[in-house]
This record gives sequence, structure tokens and C-alpha cells, in this order.
Amino acid sequence: MLSKETIAIIKSTAPILDEHGETLTRHFYQRLFSHNPEVAPFFNKINQVTGSQQKALAAAICAYAANIDNLEILGGAVELIAQKHVSLQIKPEHYPIVGENLLASIKEVLGEGATENIINAWAEAYGLLADILIGREKQIYTENATMIGGWEGFKPFKVIKKEKESEIITSFYLVPEDKAELPLFKPGQYITIRVPEQNNQTTMRNYSLSDKPNQDWFRISVKREIGPSAHTPEGYVSNLLHQEIEVGTILEVAPPCGEFFLEVTEKHQRPLVLLAAGIGITPLLSMLLSATEAMPEREIIVIHECLSLRLQAFKPTIDALAKKNTNLKVHYRYSDVIPKTENSNNLSAGVIDLKLIKSMVPERNADYYFCGPQAFMANIYHELLSWGVPPNQVHFEFFGPKQTLEKPKSGQCPMGN
Ligand SMILES: Cc1cc2nc3c(=O)[nH]c(=O)nc-3n(C[C@H](O)[C@H](O)[C@H](O)COP(=O)(O)OP(=O)(O)OC[C@H]3O[C@@H](n4cnc5c(N)ncnc54)[C@H](O)[C@@H]3O)c2cc1C
Ligand code: HEM
Repeated sequence: MLSKETIAIIKSTAPILDEHGETLTRHFYQRLFSHNPEVAPFFNKINQVTGSQQKALAAAICAYAANIDNLEILGGAVELIAQKHVSLQIKPEHYPIVGENLLASIKEVLGEGATENIINAWAEAYGLLADILIGREKQIYTENATMIGGWEGFKPFKVIKKEKESEIITSFYLVPEDKAELPLFKPGQYITIRVPEQNNQTTMRNYSLSDKPNQDWFRISVKREIGPSAHTPEGYVSNLLHQEIEVGTILEVAPPCGEFFLEVTEKHQRPLVLLAAGIGITPLLSMLLSATEAMPEREIIVIHECLSLRLQAFKPTIDALAKKNTNLKVHYRYSDVIPKTENSNNLSAGVIDLKLIKSMVPERNADYYFCGPQAFMANIYHELLSWGVPPNQVHFEFFGPKQTLEKPKSGQCPMGN
């Protein structure tokens, strides 16, 4: 527990962090990597270049400062961070390294404004947050290691099949080299792949499991990232997977993690609405495959937005499911032109909007899961909430550090969702 004085100091620094949050976290990462290069391989460098990691950390610190006297409301944020940390094998011994660099960065950025009282209060508060995260991470590590088929750290998996799903998306089927059973992951969760990088370093990426649990393999489906412009380097791991990883290759895999999943044992009968843009279909496909099997009577609506038919993955799989399951309604929305070869009436041009959702969902009281780029998710999020969908029925995942879905009011700390 923090003292009243510490709580008061932390709350009083929230506006300062709001103003300097990203400068502070940018400085922090530079400092961390120059003073403690041994932790650099845990991070994806591109998330520093694009600033998304600085923003995610700044938002987390801000939310923490603003809610220091009511930490329960950060429960969702803690679970997301803990699952991400476990997926990347962050351990208790790393916390003092981060804490030391964070406190030094506060001093260096705020200068004289960082009084001894402020630094001591933040040291105490960091310690509390670190304990909360370390405690939850310990539970997840234990669950992952002790469940049937579970394991600790990274373990070698062999690629047994490589299957093209679209012009830019390829699936990889992975089995443990030790032929052990696979754990029952929750549909929507992701695994972590670790691959070699230059200078004898390694780098890690998360990939959602795109098949249902209880198969003889893990399947990931990877979009080849060609980069936003001709001058930007191509994505490292996705291109490595597409171009160099073949059947028979061994990949290092860490156990499934993540708090974005469908609980198929839940007995309520609200309709289930799955909304995806592009590669965001992967966790939702796992949910769809699991839900049609575990709850065949439940009404399910799937809407997949894609640039074009050529880039769209899994249409044949979803169409086949819809043919078999009369409770499943499917619609495809294309940003380009509607494919000419199709004569189906479940295709349209544009982006997913509330009008389309309303036309397919019998009532707004449904469970909504969505995944895709930030602009897509921010739009869906606001439309659903403005329609009156309860926030606890709205679930989403970013394929990278969490970004804000809020339209920030000026001078307001970006709170975690
Ligand atoms: C929970 C989770 C689940 C995920 N599930 C999936 C999934 O199912 N399928 C999937 O395909 N992906 C998924 N991802 C994304 C995946 O983890 C990788 O981020 C993705 O494959 C890109 O990695 P990369 O190494 O190819 O690209 P990186 O090397 O990390 O580069 C990322 C992007 O930045 C661009 N870039 C590179 N250098 C620069 C620069 N200097 N300036 C600006 N831009 C630059 C690259 O071209 C690329 O577009 C998931 C991510 C998360 C967090
Ligand atoms: C109290 C301490 C900490 C807090 C509040 C914190 C917060 C966060 C947040 C908010 C994210 C982004 C999650 C997301 O949106 O995906 C994150 C990711 C991450 N954290 Fe931490 N963290 C802490 C400690 C640590 C430590 C000790 C390490 C070890 C080096 C670490 C390494 C990472 C890494 C590698 C990522 C993923 C970065 C990426 O995507 O490249 N964190 N953390």
C-alpha cells in the first residue's frame, strides 16, 4: 500500500506526465538501450521508430498516475501488459533495470522539477506496479508451464505445412519437435516466434493462432509486410517467414498468451459479432471455428473488410462454414471494387460501418470482437458505443502496442481502454 503523501504526490504529477509523457518515454528507451543493451532484444525496434511503444508506455504511466488511488480500474490494462510481458519472457530480474532507467529519465527530463519527494514517490509507486505485474506474470508462467502440453520459455517447432491463403498471406502449420501434446489455447490468443537477427541477436514477434484449439498443430497466418512506402524497409520477420522458412524448418515458439479471446464455455446466448479488417481476421477465425463447433445454436455474424479479393484470406473457409451453419451470417466489404466474378449478395464496397452492422445484427445486445488497423478499430469502437453497446461487450486487439481509440480531449491523459 502507498502512503497518503505518496498518492498525493503521484496524482499531482499526472498533469506533468500528460504534458511530457512521450518525451519522457522516448528519453527512457534511448537511455535503457544505451545503459542496458542486454534488454534490447526484447523490444521490436520498429515500435520505437514509429513511436507506438513510447505512446503505449506513456499512456500506461499516465493512467497509473491518474488512478493511483483506485488501481482496480486498471485491471484490464494490467492483464494486457502481463500477457504481453510473459509472451516475450520478461522476468522479475528485468524490473529493477527498467525502474532505474525510468527514475533517472524522470530526473533528466524534468530537471529541477523532479524534486527528491517526487522521485521517492515514483520509486515507491513503480515498485508497487512492478509487484502487481510480477505477481500476475508469475501466475501466467506457472499456468503455461503446468497445463497439459504446456512448456516454459521457447521450444523448437517444425514447420510441417506452408499454405498460401492470398497474394500476401501465408499460413504456417507448426508441430513441437519433441512430438509432445499441444496445450488447449483460448481462441483469439497468440504465440511468440523468436528468430535470429544481425549481430548474433534475436528478435520476437507475436502471431495469433488462426486455427481452432485441439488440433495436432498450431497454425499462424502471416501477412508479408512490404512497408508503407518504397523507401521504408520491408518488415523483417514476416518477409523471413514468407521467403526463407520452408517445410522442415525449425522455429522457436513460446506458449500461447493474450487476453483477447472467446470464452466458449460461456453459456449466454447473445449473438456473437466478429469484425475484421485485412489480416485482423486471424484471431477472429480461430474464434469462429471454435464457436461454430462449441455453440452451434448461437447466432454469429462475421464481417470481413479487405482491400480486394486478391488480398483476402480464408474466404473459402468462412463460406464453407456459412453453408453448413444456418446461424452464421457473413458479409465481405471491399475497399477497392467488388469482385466481378462473384454473384453473391453478401459483398459490398466500402468500409465496415454501423449501418452495415445494424443491417446484420438482430439486436445491439451482442458480443462484439474486432481486430484491424487503428483507424478501423477507432471507428467501430465509437460507432458501437454511440449505439449504446455496453463497453464490457466490446473487445478488440491491436497487432502491436496498444494505441488509443479515444478522441483525446485537450489536456487529458490518454487512458487505457
Ligand atoms: C497480439 C498480436 C497478434 C498478431 N497476429 C498477427 C497475425 O496473425 N498475422 C500477422 O501477419 N501479423 C500479426 N501480428 C503482427 C506481427 O507481430 C508483426 O508485427 C508483423 O508480422 C510485422 O513484423 P515484421 O517483422 O515483418 O515487420 P517489422 O520489421 O516489425 O516492421 C513493421 C512495419 O514497419 C515498417 N518499417 C520498417 N522499418 C521502418 C522504418 N524505418 N520506418 C517506418 N516503418 C518501417 C515495415 O515495412 C513494416 O510494415 C500480431 C501482432 C500482435 C501484437
Ligand atoms: C512497471 C513496469 C512496466 C510497465 C508499466 C510496463 C508497461 C508496458 C506497456 C504499457 C506495454 C505495451 C503493451 C501493449 O500495448 O502491447 C509494454 C510492453 C512491453 N514491455 Fe513493459 N512495462 C513494464 C516493465 C517492463 C520490463 C521490466 C521490461 C523488460 C525489459 C518490459 C518490456 C516490455 C516489452 C519488450 C514490451 C513489448 C514492446 C514491443 O512491442 O516492442 N516492460 N510494457
